[in-house]
Amino acid sequence: MNDLKPDRVAWLKGAAFNCDSIAVATHSPLRLVLLGAPGAGKGTQAELLSTRLGACHLSTGDIFRTAKLSNYCDRSPAMHEALNSMRRGELVSDEMVLNLVTERSRCLHCRGGFLLDGFPRTVTQAEAFEKVLHENGVTLNAVLNYEMPLEEIVNRLSGRRICPQCKAVFHIVTRPPEMVDVCDHCGAGLIQREDDLPESIRVRMTTHESSAAPLAEFYQRRNLLISISAEGTPEEIYDRTISALRPRI
Ligand code: AP5
Repeated sequence: MNDLKPDRVAWLKGAAFNCDSIAVATHSPLRLVLLGAPGAGKGTQAELLSTRLGACHLSTGDIFRTAKLSNYCDRSPAMHEALNSMRRGELVSDEMVLNLVTERSRCLHCRGGFLLDGFPRTVTQAEAFEKVLHENGVTLNAVLNYEMPLEEIVNRLSGRRICPQCKAVFHIVTRPPEMVDVCDHCGAGLIQREDDLPESIRVRMTTHESSAAPLAEFYQRRNLLISISAEGTPEEIYDRTISALRPRI
């Protein structure tokens, strides 16, 4: 496999930080938004697309999970509030998310392109993001909407384990690490996300149900939406994604 994956320090930690390994420049960088229910596999597909095509994986959830590793006293009151919302499975306020994304808008110019995962999440965020794109002179190639039946989503979320250090994602059945509970990439101990516990999963699914349709419609009206079945293996879904994107890249 061609490993083109850039590191994401400027995205994960904010404007004061620079990425150590910068994406390889491509003639036509891929600029995508990935939509889909919690657990549909957006992060897994973003990881494959990033590693193989070089676009930077920009996940808003990963910004919050990185902040969670910081010193408790260094977090702003707004970040404390955001992490509490996340733990409960609720959305973080539009204002907070938009501030974080706007502060990181130079990542939209990443020369390998970008894969936005988990943002925008509401029509308010999508409208504000449209302005940010316009101000930055950047256009999207497409918005991928990963579709998945509910039962399978619960299986995926309850078996997920993540690396708190390098953010790699595993699954105890479908993508187990080589050594139990140890990250294949950096050797850190794997953990279960707090919001993958049953009560938070329920809240996340309800929240997703109310915001998904208006958001999909928003991008449908702009002729950017591509729906992709998220059933099957990650490789099958990746192949479907590439085929669906071909006419647009
Ligand atoms: P976020 O981190 O964005 O989480 P999410 O959208 O709920 O999505 P997930 O990360 O749970 O799922 P995924 O689709 O990426 O699935 P994955 O690839 O890991 O957000 C977390 C929280 O942060 C939110 O609840 C909110 O509080 C806050 N937040 C973030 N952005 C926000 C915003 N814009 N506005 C407001 N609040 C925001 O796969 C899941 C599992 O399945 C893994 O174990 C994986 O290995 C496995 N798997 C994946 N694909 C397959 C496959 N094809 N077959 C079998 N197993 C598979």
